[in-house]
Order: sequence, then structure tokens, then C-alpha cells
Amino acid sequence: MADYEDNKQKNSFTLFNNETGKSYDLPVIKGTDGPDVLDIRKLYQETGMFTYDPGFTSTASCDSSITYIDGNEGILRHRGYDIHELASKSEFLEVCYLLLHGDLPSPEDKQKFKDVITNHTMIHEQLVHLYRGFRRDAHPMAIMVGVVGALSAFYHDSTDFSDVNQRMIACHRLIAKMPTIGAMAYKYSIGQPFVYPKNDLSYAENFLYMTFSVPTAEFKISPKIVKAMDRFFILHADHEQNASTSTVRLAGSSGANPFACIASGIASLWGPAHGGANEAVIKMLEEIGDVKNIPEYIKKAKNKNDPFRLMGFGHRVYKNYDPRATVMKESAHEVLEELNKHDDPLLKVALELERIALEDEYFIQKKLFPNVDFYSGFILKALGFPTSMFTVLFAIGRTVGWISQWKEMIEDPINKIGRPRQLYLGKTAREYQQESTREKKSIFNWLWK
Ligand code: CMC
Repeated sequence: MADYEDNKQKNSFTLFNNETGKSYDLPVIKGTDGPDVLDIRKLYQETGMFTYDPGFTSTASCDSSITYIDGNEGILRHRGYDIHELASKSEFLEVCYLLLHGDLPSPEDKQKFKDVITNHTMIHEQLVHLYRGFRRDAHPMAIMVGVVGALSAFYHDSTDFSDVNQRMIACHRLIAKMPTIGAMAYKYSIGQPFVYPKNDLSYAENFLYMTFSVPTAEFKISPKIVKAMDRFFILHADHEQNASTSTVRLAGSSGANPFACIASGIASLWGPAHGGANEAVIKMLEEIGDVKNIPEYIKKAKNKNDPFRLMGFGHRVYKNYDPRATVMKESAHEVLEELNKHDDPLLKVALELERIALEDEYFIQKKLFPNVDFYSGFILKALGFPTSMFTVLFAIGRTVGWISQWKEMIEDPINKIGRPRQLYLGKTAREYQQESTREKKSIFNWLWK
């Protein structure tokens, strides 16, 4: 954990208040990489003012040693290791260990970690009843939010965040059970029997087995497909303080149990501006349908008065090609080749859309490049996942990032409950209005017709 005193620089940043003529020195804290930050923790106490930064575009909400992103250069590193190297040389469970514990595991530690995860893959049998309570056509992300939140009702021996052992068991349980929970959500939605995990399979293969095998036939899958699934999980493992991770941290800052915190992260991930974009990309490409329609959609994306956005394009942090998208694009080609689906008409639309957008002044000027979600849908679609499952797969991969960030926060000695303030723009104090004098509003014209 960063020691602020050590990292404080001699230089500071001076704020000058024109109205009072007073100046305030703000200490500057230096990170090991990336921009320095202004330490404003005493700002309110000293000036009576808050900072204002909706969407946190200039705010570091915490310090962290897990993931580093340089958005201008298109760099992503976990614990100092470049994502390209991890995606090509490591397997997902190794990356999980790295995120949780800070270093790549020795061969012995790797084996022990795999054994621990493998031994937690089953879920409490009573949870099956919970699945049956959902409507058959429930979105699998809705099921994920419910079932993961419900884990806290089943695993009481790992809900006490203040106990180091319970924390670790919760981390292992979440990483181990997430594929089982996701696969069951899928099986439920298509009316097939749940498939129990098989502990002699790798993490990715076991997930594919629980998802696609049926009791009546032998399950066979190509190692290339297993590798692609594993790489998909690696590419989604962590991404610094994004919306869902910040949600997990904020929920956890109150001392909420880890299962509830991860459920809140899943809810945040679901939105189309975040993890829901992989589903939205395929829907958009299907809607575009043919390369001849691309110019019309590019025009729509550029129109300020049209809410349409090019899904899978743009990123809050990356102002360059998302490094995960480069690997994902390669992987998509490999998978389509392996499954003999390289003539997928949607891929043709995607490649052409990418080419046109990258040459378009609007996208160049706003630095909008393909992100991780632009090509990931092709892999998942080719493997046979319905689009509604795409964000579930993102959630399975991201669980290790959420739980590592949660653990880092809990173990940080300066951990405080997250409590942002606001710029109040509402009514000032006014007299209570008697019912008979209140004006009729028109809000019910469209509600509950
Ligand atoms: N298509 C068209 N215009 C866009 C797009 C897009 N995909 N993305 C951003 N812009 C424009 C936007 O209209 C704005 O224009 P102006 O400055 O004229 O108002 C400008 O670019 C900056 O956009 P912003 O919304 O202020 O940027 P942001 O950092 O708040 O949003 C984003 C980032 C990812 C939500 C946004 O780029 C977007 O909605 N992309 C599509 C959804 C998507 O692919 N999401 C997946 C993100 S990566 C995976 C993950 O982390 O979950």
C-alpha cells in the first residue's frame, strides 16, 4: 500500500482564491507510473469548498497497486506485467493469483492455488431452488445479480470482511463458483439440466463443459477453443477503477460482505456503456446487416441529436487502440478459423465498420478506437453463446479483479467509508405547502396507462 508520506513531493500545488485573496498549498503525491495527484483531503476543512467532478474524469478515488493503464499509449499492465504477455504466456488462474497476491506463482503455489479453486467449484445444492424461482426468460445477468448476492446467505463462514481467513476463502469461493453460477444461468434459460463441475478440467474447459455438455452425449472440445475462452477471461480480469470496480469498492467500504459487493459490481457491469456493450455490439452489427448500410450508421453515430453510438468504440481512459481489443481481434480470427466460420457476414460488417470509423475525422478527432467489446462478441457467438450471456462471461472474468480490489481496499489502513459530497442546486428552504394549494403536475400522463 502506498505510503503517502514517502510519496509526497517537495513541490505542491497552490490554489488562489480571488475573492478572499487567500492561497492554499495542496500536496502532490507521486505515483510509481502515470499522473501525479493533488492531495485534496484537507481542502474542505481549510477552504470550506468541495471539488466538483461528475463522472470522476479527473479524480483518483483510491490508491492501488494492481492495474496500471496508460490510455494515451494504449498500455495495460497487471502488477507490472503487460497484458499482451499475460494473454500469450499465462493461463487465467495464474493471472488470478497475480492479481490477488501481487506476483506470478511459483510452480508449487500455482498447483496449490489451482487445487483450492478446483475444490470450491460446486455451489450449495439448495441454490438450485433459487434458480427455479426465476422466470424462464429472465436475463442471465438478472439471475447472476440474484444468485451471487444470495451466496452471502449460504456461506456464513466467509462473510466477515474483518477476518483475514474469511476474506481469502470468500475470494477463492467467488473465483471458483462464478463459472458454475454462470453456466447454470445459461442452462436454466434453455431448459437443460444443470451440469455439475468436473474437477479434472481446467477453469475455462470446465466452464465450457458445464455450459455446453448434455447428459446424453460425450463432451468434446478443441484445445484452441479452450485457449480462446481462457484468454477471454484473462483480457477481462481487471481494469483499474472502472464503474463496476468502483461500485464494488464503494459497497465494500461500508463493511458489506464480499458476496453482496460482487453482486453490486455485476449490476453495474450490466449497463450498455460498460460490460453490456459486447451484447450491444452484436445487436448493432445485426441491425446494420450489410456493409452498404455502414455510412448511414456512421452518420447516426456522429449526429448529436441521435442517441445512437457506435457500440464497442470509445473509452473513458483509452485514447488509442484498446490493447485488449488487439488481442481479442486476433483471437476472434483464430476461433472463427478453427470453427470454420470465418465467412461470418457480421465479421465482414465489423471489419469494414472499423476501417471506415478509423478513417473518419469525427472518430479521429475524438480519439475513438475499438475497445475490448468490439471483437469479443464474435468469439462468444462462434462458440454458441447467445448474446444475453456475453456480459455474464465478462462478469466471470472480472470477478477476480473486483475481489482483488475489494481485498486491497479492506487491507488498506486508511480505508474509510466512501461518501462523496455534492453541489446542491435544488430549492432553498421554503414554507410547507398545504395540499389544497398545490399545482397539478402532468407526470401521470405517461405513467401506468
Ligand atoms: N460513438 C459515437 N460517439 C461517441 C462514442 C461512440 N461510441 N463514444 C464517445 N463518443 C463521443 C461523445 O458523443 C462525445 O462527443 P462530444 O464531445 O461532442 O460530446 C465524445 O465522444 C466523448 O464521449 P463521452 O461520452 O464524453 O466519453 P466517456 O468517457 O464519458 O464515455 C464510453 C466512454 C465508453 C461510455 C463511450 O465511448 C461509449 O458510450 N461507447 C460505446 C459503449 C461501449 O463500447 N462501451 C464499452 C466500454 S469498454 C468496456 C468496459 O470498460 O466496460
